[in-house]
Amino acid sequence: MKSLISTRDLSREDVERILNYAQQIKGGDVPQLEGDVALLFMEPSTRTRISFEKACRKLGLETYTVVGESSSMVKGESFFDTLKTFEALGFSSVVFRVPFVLFPYEDLVKNLSLSLVNAGDGTHQHPTQGLIDLFTLLEEFGSLEGLRVLYVGDITHSRVFRSGVHLLNAFGVKVSVCGPRTLIPREVKSLGVEEVFDDIDEALENSDAVIWLRLQKERQKENFIPSERSYFRQFGLTVERYEKLRGKFLHPGPVNREIDIDGRLMYSEKSLIQKQVENGLYVRMAVMRWCLE
Ligand code: CP
Repeated sequence: MKSLISTRDLSREDVERILNYAQQIKGGDVPQLEGDVALLFMEPSTRTRISFEKACRKLGLETYTVVGESSSMVKGESFFDTLKTFEALGFSSVVFRVPFVLFPYEDLVKNLSLSLVNAGDGTHQHPTQGLIDLFTLLEEFGSLEGLRVLYVGDITHSRVFRSGVHLLNAFGVKVSVCGPRTLIPREVKSLGVEEVFDDIDEALENSDAVIWLRLQKERQKENFIPSERSYFRQFGLTVERYEKLRGKFLHPGPVNREIDIDGRLMYSEKSLIQKQVENGLYVRMAVMRWCLE
C-alpha cells in the first residue's frame, strides 16, 4: 500500500508505471480492487472529487464522502485524528483535499496504516492534476524531450504548477513561467523553471504548449494585481493571442472566464481542457491502482 502526497516523491519509474496503468485503463483494461475509500473534501471541488469517486467505483472500490462543514474538523479535530478515525473504521484509503499545506508529512504517513492520496493541499501539491497534465501532453506530443511548456498566471498560489513542474522536468521538458511579478515566487528557478517572462507575447513565441492557471481569487490576501481587467489584458488568453499560439493550451479548471481565458476559447480547436478532464478519470484510476495494489 502506497501514499501519494507530492509528485516530488515519485521516481520516473513510478510515474511511468502510473501512466502505463492509465493508458491500459483508457484502452478498456480495467482491474478490480477491493476496499473502502473515504473522500474527505474540505475545499470546493467539482472535477477532482467526482472523478475520484467515479474512478474508485469503476475499480470496484466502495466510496464514502465527507465534505467541508460536515466534518468534525470544523469542531477542532486534528487532521491526524480524523485520519485515525478512518483507519479504525477499516478504510483502505483516504483521498483528501484540505485548505492547508501538508508539510512535512512523513510522520503522518508513517503513523497510519492507510493509503493517503492528496487531491490538493493549500498551495502545496495537487499530484493527480500534475499527472493528468503530463499524460495529456504525452498523448498530444508523443515525446516531451526538449518540449517548451509555459505556465501562465498565478504561479505563487498554484499547487498545479508545483506538482507539474517536477514531472515535466523529469520527462525532459523545459518549463518557463509568465505572470505578474507579484504572483511569481522568488525561488521559482529552484523549483525547476528555466526562464521567467514578463511579456506574455514573447513567452508564447518561445513555447510549444501553454498551461494557463486560474487566478486564485480566494487566496489573494493582498492586492497582487491592479484589476482583473488589466490582468486579463496583460496575461489572459485573448482571441489575438489564441491566433498566435503555436500549439495547444491547457487549463486545470475551474476557469475564470474573461480573467484567465476568453470564454469563447474554452472548447476551441487548440484547447485541451476537455481532454484533461476526461484523462482525469483514467489517471485517478491508475493512481488508486498504484496505491492499493
Ligand atoms: N482542477 C481541479 O482541481 O478542479 P476542481 O477544483 O474542480 O477539483
